[in-house]
Amino acid sequence: MHRDYLIIEGGKSLKGEVLVSGSKNSSLALIFASLLSEGESLLEGVPELLDVRNAIEILKFLGAKVKKVGNSLKILPKEIGCMAPDCLVRKMRASVMLIPPLLKRKGRAVVSMPGGCAIGVRPIDQHLKYFKRAGVEVEMEGGYLLLRGKKLRGCEFTFDRITVTGTMNALMLSSCIEEETYLHNVALEPEVLDLVEVLKKMGARISLKGRSALVIGKRDLKPFKHRVIPDRIEAGTLLVAGAITKGEVVLRGAIPEHLKSVIEALRRANQEVLLEDGKIYIRGKSPIKPLSLETREFPGFPTDMQAQFMALLCVAEGRSLIRERIFENRFKHVGELLRMGARIYVKGDLAQIEGVKKLYGAEVFSTDLRASAGLVLAGLRAEGITLVKDIYHLDRGYERLEEKLKKLGAKIERETQV
Ligand code: EPU
Repeated sequence: MHRDYLIIEGGKSLKGEVLVSGSKNSSLALIFASLLSEGESLLEGVPELLDVRNAIEILKFLGAKVKKVGNSLKILPKEIGCMAPDCLVRKMRASVMLIPPLLKRKGRAVVSMPGGCAIGVRPIDQHLKYFKRAGVEVEMEGGYLLLRGKKLRGCEFTFDRITVTGTMNALMLSSCIEEETYLHNVALEPEVLDLVEVLKKMGARISLKGRSALVIGKRDLKPFKHRVIPDRIEAGTLLVAGAITKGEVVLRGAIPEHLKSVIEALRRANQEVLLEDGKIYIRGKSPIKPLSLETREFPGFPTDMQAQFMALLCVAEGRSLIRERIFENRFKHVGELLRMGARIYVKGDLAQIEGVKKLYGAEVFSTDLRASAGLVLAGLRAEGITLVKDIYHLDRGYERLEEKLKKLGAKIERETQV
C-alpha cells in the first residue's frame, strides 16, 4: 500500500474545462459481468483506478485474458476457475459481483465473506436471500462463502432494502436463467441501468417498471461491446470544487440527468449552475447558503457526495443539517474537518454544520474514498497548507484527481512518503 499524500495550498479559484472520466462503479460491475460469457468483450471508457486494477487482477487470477489499451479493456474469459483470490477480493467489496458469473460458468463459487469497512457494517444478506430464492445453496465456512447453483430457477423476490450491488447481483444471475424472474424494490442508480443495458446486449430480456424488473435470461449470453457511463460522483466532486473555490468550472462528458439532485442542492446553496451544449457550468458565488440534506437512493441525494457537500457547507453562511441515511458510519471526515477549523456536531445519523468564515490548512487523514475527496475540497478552500495523508483511498475511485484540479489552477502536488 503506497503512502502518497497531497499538499494543497488553498485559496486559488479554479477556472477552466475538465473532462469527466468513466464511472468507477459501472466499470467494476461490467468487468465482472464480462465473465458471464466465454467470448471476448470490449469495455471502453474505463477509468485508471486502483479498484479497476484490482478487478483486472482478479479476472487474470481466475484465468481470463485481459488486454488494456488506454481506457479500453478487452476481456476474454474462455476458461475460468471458481475460486476467487482471497487477498484481492478482500481489498474490494465489489468483488461479491463475481458470484453470479462463477455460478453460471462453474456451478459453484467460493469467495471470502466481505467484512465491514470504514463506512459501515455493509452486510450482504439481501444478495444471499435472493440467491437462495433462485435455487443457490449457500454455506459459510471459515470466513468463506461456498455457493452451489446446479439448478437455478426464476422466482419473485422483493428486496427488504434497496441495495445497488445486491440489485446488480440479482440482475446478473437472473440474466442467465431461462425463466421469468420478478425483482421488486430494486436500485435504480445509473450504474445499475448501465448494467441492464449490457445484460440486454448479452441477450437477456429485461423490462423495468418503477422499482420492479422482469428478467428473462438466456443460458448462452453473448460477449458485448460497451462504453461505460461517465462518473457522476467525480463530476459532482468537480462541481463542488468550482463552488468552494469561488471558481468557474466547465464539465465535459457528464450526464446532467445523473446529477439532478446534486445540481439542485448546489443551486439551493446559491451556486450558479448552467447546462449548455452538453456541458455543465458552475460559477461559485458568495454567500454559500446553508442546506438541509438527506442522503437517499437514486434519484435522491447520493451518499457518495455527502462528504464533499459537508466541506462546502463548512463555509456556508449559517447552519446546515446533513442526515446520512444510507450508511451508518459515514461521518469519519468530520473529525478531520474539525482540525481545519470547521464547526460540526454529530448525533447519530445527523450532522449539524455551523458555517465558519474560514477553514485553515492542517494535516488530515483520509479515512475512506469520498471522505478523502471532501478533505481535498476543504484544502482547496482553506487558508494555508493542507496535507491530505493516506490518499490511497482517493486513488481507489478518482482518476488523477490532483492532475485535473491542477489543470484548473489548483496548487496541489502529490508527494510520496518514504
Ligand atoms: N445493505 C444491507 N444488506 C444488503 C446490502 C446492503 O443491509 O444485503 C445495506 C448496506 O449496509 C447499506 C445500504 O444497504 O447501509 C446500501 O448499500 P448498497 O448495497 O446499496 O451499497 P453497495 O452496493 O455495497 C454501492 C457503491 C457504493 C455506494 C453505495 C450506495 C459499488 C461498488 N459501490 O455500494 O460506492 O456508496 O452503492 O449508493 O457500486 C463509493 O463509490 O465510494 C462507494 C462506497
